[in-house]
Amino acid sequence: MKKMMPAAFTVCLSLFALAPAHAQFAKPEEAVKYRKASFNLMAAHFGRLGAMASGKAPYDAKAAAENADLVATMAKLPWPAFTEGSDKGETRAKSEIWKDAAKFKDASDKMQVEIGKLNVAAKAGNVDALKVAFGPTAASCKACHDTFRKD
Ligand code: HEC
Repeated sequence: MKKMMPAAFTVCLSLFALAPAHAQFAKPEEAVKYRKASFNLMAAHFGRLGAMASGKAPYDAKAAAENADLVATMAKLPWPAFTEGSDKGETRAKSEIWKDAAKFKDASDKMQVEIGKLNVAAKAGNVDALKVAFGPTAASCKACHDTFRKD
């Protein structure tokens, strides 16, 4: 029995390797939880940049750069979690996401382009650059929410 263990373990590992990316979510509820968590983390760090851009918080170049990096990382996470069948339950995702997947992808690409620019601006070391880049990024969030998220 002891001798067989490693073989069984190897089989398990290769099954994982063969599984498609979306199989990381065993159930639709897990995909929903995951994407909401990543949106909330992204929004938390995005909000800190917004507070600096609007003057509600003092400008801090180091904090701006760090928050922008976190936003850029978080911005990659929600999309693979819009798995088939995860339009039900505790979610505000509209079914249009799956009906018009190309348009949804465009909206997420657009946001990631804006976040790329925001990241450059956040590292410019002055609040004016941050102010210029923040608005269009926030607009790219809103554009997708208006179309693909329930109120
Ligand atoms: C391409 C579409 C799209 C873009 C772009 C987008 N979101 Fe969302 N967002 C959604 C959808 C869809 C949901 C609903 C997720 C759910 O309930 O399953 C959502 C949910 C959220 C939530 C609520 C999560 C919860 O716990 O219910 C927050 C906060 C959020 N988004 C923030 C942002 C911010 C900030 C940005 C921009 C930096 C952004 N989103 C960009 C589609 C998008």
